[in-house]
Amino acid sequence: MSAETVATAPEKGPRHVALIMDGNGRWAERRGLPRVVGHREGVQALRRTIKAAPDFGIRCLTVFGFSTENWSRPADEVSDLMGLVRSFVGSDLKRLEAAGVRVRVLGRRKGLPADIAAIVDRAETQTAHNDRFLLQVAFNYGGRADLADAAQRLVDLARAGELSGDVTEEDLGLGLSTAGSPPVDLIVRTSGEQRLSNFLLWEAAYAELVFQDILWPDYGAEALGQAVAAFGSRERRFGGRDAVEDAAPEATTVKAAV
Ligand code: IPE
Ligand code: IPE
Ligand code: MG
Repeated sequence: MSAETVATAPEKGPRHVALIMDGNGRWAERRGLPRVVGHREGVQALRRTIKAAPDFGIRCLTVFGFSTENWSRPADEVSDLMGLVRSFVGSDLKRLEAAGVRVRVLGRRKGLPADIAAIVDRAETQTAHNDRFLLQVAFNYGGRADLADAAQRLVDLARAGELSGDVTEEDLGLGLSTAGSPPVDLIVRTSGEQRLSNFLLWEAAYAELVFQDILWPDYGAEALGQAVAAFGSRERRFGGRDAVEDAAPEATTVKAAV
């Protein structure tokens, strides 16, 4: 499927796509290369995917870069992944800013090396004025940790006397790191694995799930088009009896949402 095909009917396509970018290690191992090469190629795949996304009517991409559980990997791999964040922001931030992309980093800042936390802050501040496209990077992110943090915020508000009555879904949602971003329409996982691995547990409630066998370093416009096409063939009912064509009204602009 070409970008044009979908671009003619973007109202039918997903506005917010979340990607579990999996399979870097296997991509490298199959070539007899060190895993870090797979991660580096994964960054290239991310660049291709960000570039292709607007052609499919996508306004927001959320990508899983590093989970709270990924700290359990060997120290050299963790350090390689941190190094890739440094180099990605260093080489791509200006271009993303110029392209109208707003960058937002999801996950716990505490626990990140100080220089990475500073880089992440800079990426957010430098692109805060943009509203054409929202790129959310989940880094040191876990869905359970995010829910725990949202619950802690409610406890703090209640202790301060700023919360009364029963807790609503909206109250809790406002404390998540995705607060204000458009609803997640589609979650894609590459590499053939079929699990969420602690990604967007709350936000996944009514997202469509697509699992693709392709390894992340091979991802790009074509594979994204296939995921968008799979989404287009789904009927979303949100618990009702009829299909809902447009779950996220156009009024949900990136600027208003963030
Ligand atoms: C995804 O690729 C990237 C991260 C989790 C950071 P993996 O490193 O998990 O690759 P596989 O699953 O071992 O192939
Ligand atoms: C999920 O992939 C995390 C990221 C893609 C960043 P993992 O490779 O860490 O997940 P598991 O261990 O296979 O569940
Ligand atoms: Mg993996």
